[in-house]
Amino acid sequence: MKQVVAHAQAFVGVPELPPDKSIAHRAAMISAISDGVSRIVNYPSSADPQSTLSCLRQLGVSVTFEETGDDGGIMVVQGVGLRGLKAPSRQLDCGNSGTTMRLLSGILAGQGFESKLVGDDSLSSRPMERIAEPLRRLGASVSTTDGHAPIVIGGGKLHGVHFETPVRSAQVKSAILLAGLYADGETSVTEAAPTRDHTERMLGLSVIQIGGQRVINVQPIKRIPSRTWTVPSDFSAAAFFIVAATVLENAKSIMMGVGLNPTRSALLDVLKAMGAKIGISNERERGGEPIADLQIESAALSGVVIDEALIPNLIDELPILAVAATQAEGRTLVRGAGDLRNKESDRIDAVCVNLRALGASVEEFDDGFAITGPTKLTGTTVSSYHDHRIAMSMGVAGLIASGETTVENSECVAISFPGFWDELEKMSIV
Ligand code: S3P
Repeated sequence: MKQVVAHAQAFVGVPELPPDKSIAHRAAMISAISDGVSRIVNYPSSADPQSTLSCLRQLGVSVTFEETGDDGGIMVVQGVGLRGLKAPSRQLDCGNSGTTMRLLSGILAGQGFESKLVGDDSLSSRPMERIAEPLRRLGASVSTTDGHAPIVIGGGKLHGVHFETPVRSAQVKSAILLAGLYADGETSVTEAAPTRDHTERMLGLSVIQIGGQRVINVQPIKRIPSRTWTVPSDFSAAAFFIVAATVLENAKSIMMGVGLNPTRSALLDVLKAMGAKIGISNERERGGEPIADLQIESAALSGVVIDEALIPNLIDELPILAVAATQAEGRTLVRGAGDLRNKESDRIDAVCVNLRALGASVEEFDDGFAITGPTKLTGTTVSSYHDHRIAMSMGVAGLIASGETTVENSECVAISFPGFWDELEKMSIV
């Protein structure tokens, strides 16, 4: 599919945002290994969280829906307990979802059966030794295919280990913590820079701050009690509308109940430092996660140097930040973000190629990019690289650019935000 986006004269409204993908994956997996019936309110219909559900079903977990059905209903998960998953009769297809593959590997490391995890072409090209190696150290038998999926995980008797995570990745940390539930002693992970902390929040793990480092401890447990989870709106989805409502003229947007976990929301701090007008109100908690309402309006931006320590807290927002940087006065510098090359696409390459095609002034580095603005963007045809966040970033770039921008393979937004193009169109006045 090709999406044509016209230049917007104004951008106004309240977008309907999808539920948080990261929290949803974790809620489904934790519910599956809990004792008894858990409920998940606001489980996303997007493709990645659905990949997690289909894997859990193959592992013998019953997932049904109350009320409105798969889309928006209350999801009911019959937890089978920590050791109650069944050997799958076929390979577990994680689709495009790195979170499904990496977090589920942590749980499967503690089971008494063998399973094989596969993914689509993009997922099969992403690095998997980063989880395989620590899971082996815990005692699991794990083999990758030249460092990639397919991954074969044989259960093992796991032992507590202390890890200093070399990769700044919440997925790696979470795989270790979930496997640690099955170890015979304490497992801990020390992280130099905080990555998203949903797993430790949701499992209620002990987190201590030692110097500048966070140490997360997980003790072997016998059972996880069932509970009800409510998934907040996804900050990473809101990010596209936050940037659009900032850089476009005559723009104003309100977003309700957006997840504002500080390990996820550094984009707000960066945009504010650039001059964005962002109001945050009605701050509250939902299911142990901070949420709030956001009010955004057009603002003039200036370039900034992004502190490398913040990179894990805005890793998924860097492509849309790059779009914002094309409209900021001066140079915006992003370094220390080499892991962007290991996402659903090589996002450094994708951002640089596409923004250059639209007329932006872009320098590319191994571990980031610099963008000097403001530049007038001119509509052209750009590739989504089959990557949902690149497609959505280019959609916003298309609103800024003069004329029309065509985003190729635009259907990939369904990975995290099936309604994205409708919401964008609803708010754009062309
Ligand atoms: C995620 C962690 C991040 C992020 C991904 C979701 C998670 O990956 O890019 O979209 O849910 O844990 P890394 O932790 O590998 O950087």
